[in-house]
Amino acid sequence: MSMPIAASVSPRASIAKCKHEDEERANMDLIFYKYKDRVAMLPKEKGWSTKNLYLYQGFWHQSMRKVSVESVMAIQETFRAHPTDIYLATVPKSGTTWLKALMFALVNRNQYNNNSVSTHPLLVSNPHICLPYIEFEIFKTTPTYVDAHSPRLFATHMSYTSLPQSILDYGCRLVYICRNPKDVLVSLFNFENKRRDKSFDIMTFDEAFELFSKGVMVNGPYWDHVKGYHKVSLENPENILFLTYEDLTRDTANYVKQLANFMGCPFTEEEEAKGVVQEIVSLCSFESLSEANKHGNLAKGLPNEVFFREGKVGGWINHLTDEMSRILDEITEEKFHGLNITF
Ligand code: A3P
Repeated sequence: MSMPIAASVSPRASIAKCKHEDEERANMDLIFYKYKDRVAMLPKEKGWSTKNLYLYQGFWHQSMRKVSVESVMAIQETFRAHPTDIYLATVPKSGTTWLKALMFALVNRNQYNNNSVSTHPLLVSNPHICLPYIEFEIFKTTPTYVDAHSPRLFATHMSYTSLPQSILDYGCRLVYICRNPKDVLVSLFNFENKRRDKSFDIMTFDEAFELFSKGVMVNGPYWDHVKGYHKVSLENPENILFLTYEDLTRDTANYVKQLANFMGCPFTEEEEAKGVVQEIVSLCSFESLSEANKHGNLAKGLPNEVFFREGKVGGWINHLTDEMSRILDEITEEKFHGLNITF
């Protein structure tokens, strides 16, 4: 049995955490204030779990949250990439948590015993702690990236066209994972209803479907986000590894090997013979991570367990009507026409 995350926090650690959170809150307020006039000018739409979403550079963003329009603006202005950085980019609910775990486990596999039931960081803390979003880091008073080892690993939900210039200038490696839009919709609907402000009514699935189909979701339109990264992955395959949740589910070990090659840490023959690939696949499996994240919170009001619901391909069938499925198929066919993106 792995150690439940909540039980691993000592009183001293939790006082330090509160101090850190206060400093971070003050920093966030300063950044929100800095961009408030620019945000006020942006077109807006109804949000899923916040009052509004704002359209910035062709994509919808929350405001006054960590993953927000303000964080994108701040990142574009102040974030400096390193040439050896590796970024994971996703539309929310496409498999970010899984990929974060896999990328962290691959790069750090010689530091930790991947079989250990209690000491591996992925078994005592959330993958979102092990591999942070740049959207979160930008608010920290002492960001993780200041003293991180090479390669630095980060995730982002930003669209390709909104990435900070230094990531593009250095040609940093990017891993992108996308997922069947119907499963993304169902996953996002469940997630947003779980984390919505208590002052908000629970959203109906019909409402979520309407917004999703119009492209209105955090970091949506879904189709434009996927297309942006897919296009560059064709032009520059050595820079972007384009994966799908469905392929990764179907043939996890092979894609994990491909991921390791891409990240510059291929498995040796000896590792393969010793079963290290399978150890990493098991460590990062839905069963292993959901068990380790049964308790505790990632942030205030955000339990670790909300990132692990079903972890299946095709669960949409239980939620979408035939008509909804047909409409989303049509949009997907039209938007992805001529592109080799299949689920
Ligand atoms: P479901 O809601 O369909 O279950 P993200 O990490 O981008 O927020 O995506 C969350 C989705 O990935 C959720 O899908 C979640 O259950 C699934 N997921 C999380 N960890 C996983 C893992 N280790 N393996 C497979 N799926 C995982």
